[in-house]
Amino acid sequence: MTLCVGLTGGIGCGKSTVADLFAKLGAGIIDTDEISHRLTQAEGAAIPAIRAAFGDEYIKDDGALDRDKMRGLVFSDTAAKKRLELILHPLILEQAKIQLQQLKANPYVIVVVPLLTVSPEFQRLAKRILVVDCTEDSQVDRVVERSRMNEAEVRAVITRQTPRAERLRLADDVIHNDAGMDSLAAQVAALHERYLKGD
Ligand SMILES: Nc1ncnc2c1ncn2[C@@H]1O[C@H](COP(=O)(O)OP(=O)(O)O)[C@@H](O)[C@H]1O
Ligand SMILES: [Mg+2]
Repeated sequence: MTLCVGLTGGIGCGKSTVADLFAKLGAGIIDTDEISHRLTQAEGAAIPAIRAAFGDEYIKDDGALDRDKMRGLVFSDTAAKKRLELILHPLILEQAKIQLQQLKANPYVIVVVPLLTVSPEFQRLAKRILVVDCTEDSQVDRVVERSRMNEAEVRAVITRQTPRAERLRLADDVIHNDAGMDSLAAQVAALHERYLKGD
């Protein structure tokens, strides 16, 4: 069986950056955010269930999920958030398993799962959990730099995510991402060697 490594971390910690570095070394990459995005595009597999559960007003004219509107709803309404997750998560897991089969030729596969800490199913799928860790200040700086969010908005998101210490407790491997790209690449290269050996 191909080694499957679950990669997680808070917003802006560097999950996508780390996944790109692993990809350059030849790892297979599965991105659950991308799967989720595809499921909720026009004619995506999750659209009928979302329409049935939330109503036409959450689906745009082109048939895709109205992301801004849904984000607004689930931010304030935990029951709605749960309902959306019950639709999306099984579909994401199913797609991830399909992709894992397709990536069998790769020496190992990195599955990027932002919600890994709260997903027992993905924890079972992954043989190891790799956490990309950095300080909250680094998270804020990076996300403000790359997006339209301001500091208060980023801190609000961080507050709603699994606390840093709890994430680290689940980790088999940790990448520290408070220094520059060189340090990041060196840590990825070291883990790559280990994952090639299958452990
Ligand atoms: N070590 C680093 N040095 C400089 N910029 C970084 C570093 N790690 C991440 N970044 C930048 O920070 C931002 C957030 O990183 P990203 O990988 O998108 O985080 P995530 O996927 O966890 O939300 C991106 O713009 C990325 O280019
Ligand atoms: Mg990302």
